Amino acid sequence: MYGHPAFDLYEAIYTTRSMRRLRPDPVPPDIIVKVLEAATLGPSGSNRQPWFFIVLREQENKDFVAVRYRQAWQRYLKPAAREVLEKAPDSPQGRILKSARYLAEHIADCPVLIFACVKKYNDRARAGLPMYNAIFPAIQNLCLAARGYGLGTSITSMHQMFGAEIDGRLGVPPEYANVAMIPMGYPKGRWDRPDRKPALSVTFWERWGETRDALPD
Ligand SMILES: Cc1cc2nc3c(=O)[nH]c(=O)nc-3n(C[C@H](O)[C@H](O)[C@H](O)COP(=O)(O)O)c2cc1C
Repeated sequence: MYGHPAFDLYEAIYTTRSMRRLRPDPVPPDIIVKVLEAATLGPSGSNRQPWFFIVLREQENKDFVAVRYRQAWQRYLKPAAREVLEKAPDSPQGRILKSARYLAEHIADCPVLIFACVKKYNDRARAGLPMYNAIFPAIQNLCLAARGYGLGTSITSMHQMFGAEIDGRLGVPPEYANVAMIPMGYPKGRWDRPDRKPALSVTFWERWGETRDALPD
């Protein structure tokens, strides 16, 4: 339907997690655009659609970002995280850090980097703040649609530590915020259910704090 591969909705939701180990194989441009079309079907307040996406495929541009992303990762890696990586690399936290480190070391090998840019508010109360709430539904649509094509994605934000340099290179105007970088490609790893708390443990019924171990009647 709609020219996309048939894919069970819940299988997509239950297997879309950060896929940071990507093969360098190119992604056909028509598939990139289909995935971005899914992103643009996301909702935004008053249907403003205050977004633009920048697709990087050229090696020179990816190299420029990769150098800065790796530096950002080094800055992000505080002593406590280094210790987890050294002493408990197979703990849940250690596995996330290993995967994030792999991505930081291989940004330049990802076939596609997609930057999600969103307009900043210009009213007095929120002037200059990015319209974050408008962009994340679109980004999640993008990740799910990519899953439908067998493409792995991860949502990243560390490039913002070098935001001025990266935005300068990409020509992002000051009224837009470049809030997420989504590396996309065919994954090396296997699809798996994201590791999350059980829904009932984070659901209150009628009042804050009222959890239930079983469904109400
Ligand atoms: C807003 C946002 C920013 C994130 N920034 C980064 C990032 O800079 N680098 C990274 O490797 N992962 C980043 N992540 C991915 C999260 O670490 C990841 O989604 C989380 O650990 C859950 O893992 P899963 O996606 O595999 O289920 C980000 C995710 C979100 C939603």
